[in-house]
Amino acid sequence: MAKRTPLRNVRAFRSAILGWFHEQGRDYPWRRTTDPYAILVSEIMLQQTTVAAVLQNRRFERFLATFPDLATLATASEAELLREWEGLGYYNRVRNLQKTARVVLAEHNGRFPSDPILLATLPGIGRYTAGAVASFAFDRSTPIVDANIARVLTRLFNHRAPIDTTESRHQLWSWADNLVPPQNARAFNSAVMELGQTHCSARVPACLDCPVHDFCSTRNPASLPTKKPKRKTMEVIEHVLFIQKRNGSILLAQEGGSRRNGLWKLPERSHHQVADFPHLATRKYSITHHRVTLHIHRCPTSQVPPKPVNSIEQFHSPQALAALPMASPFRQALLALMERKR
Ligand code: ADE
Repeated sequence: MAKRTPLRNVRAFRSAILGWFHEQGRDYPWRRTTDPYAILVSEIMLQQTTVAAVLQNRRFERFLATFPDLATLATASEAELLREWEGLGYYNRVRNLQKTARVVLAEHNGRFPSDPILLATLPGIGRYTAGAVASFAFDRSTPIVDANIARVLTRLFNHRAPIDTTESRHQLWSWADNLVPPQNARAFNSAVMELGQTHCSARVPACLDCPVHDFCSTRNPASLPTKKPKRKTMEVIEHVLFIQKRNGSILLAQEGGSRRNGLWKLPERSHHQVADFPHLATRKYSITHHRVTLHIHRCPTSQVPPKPVNSIEQFHSPQALAALPMASPFRQALLALMERKR
């Protein structure tokens, strides 16, 4: 008999996964509420912190005790916000949460829209979070795809192509859209996510106990999903010069190459050209697939070695530096060197 596929047997598929979730779904604090504000708080928190950590430290409940509604969050000071978010990292997330609270109060009469398209216009809310609020709070029939759901779908459909491409993302959202039922989207989306966190986990899939085993096309679940091969990181050593005139101005270079186009930096030279100059500092930074070790050398204005042909080099006063676009490792190095001089 041909395998039952989720799409050709969509009612049976939904009923199998919903039945399992009804029996065995976990009881999380954010599943006990349909308040869109509380749901949004949980989703933002769970973007950077594991379910276990949020539960164990009661972070969700604590946040809601401090900021029980949109108005308290909207009027909180930055210090109060950051204190409540301490240890969770990515502080822009809580700043965006506050911006969203203000926008919902000012532009939506204090009521969250239930339309995922409108939700996705709010600060810090992307397609996943918009769908999560729409389905978990309002039971709107709308798809969501997070990493867990992507893994479940990839295996159900034996999708062997890398999932981190535009085409695959489109395909995953389209499958999720076709599978989500007109009713019970809240339970359905929670169920698919939870299957990804339990039976359909990344390392050791428990297919024998899986409620939708009959609908799954992969023979080798642990090999899925695949991702594009990562480019190897390259170690690069960069020698640059710190050249300061008596009036304080500093020589900077503006590169025309493909990396950091238009940004100013300290002028670069070969290791032969810097050999006679005293070493001032070493910094490490990463850019795309390069790991750069930056050596900074002091060079007198009278001994500047010839510059590379395609490089523009100019002296800039310390006051002008703040307004120049500059890659942050160079900005930090310069600030430290100028600080040291004083
Ligand atoms: N991770 C992100 N959102 C979640 C949710 N609603 N339930 C469980 N895990 C999650």
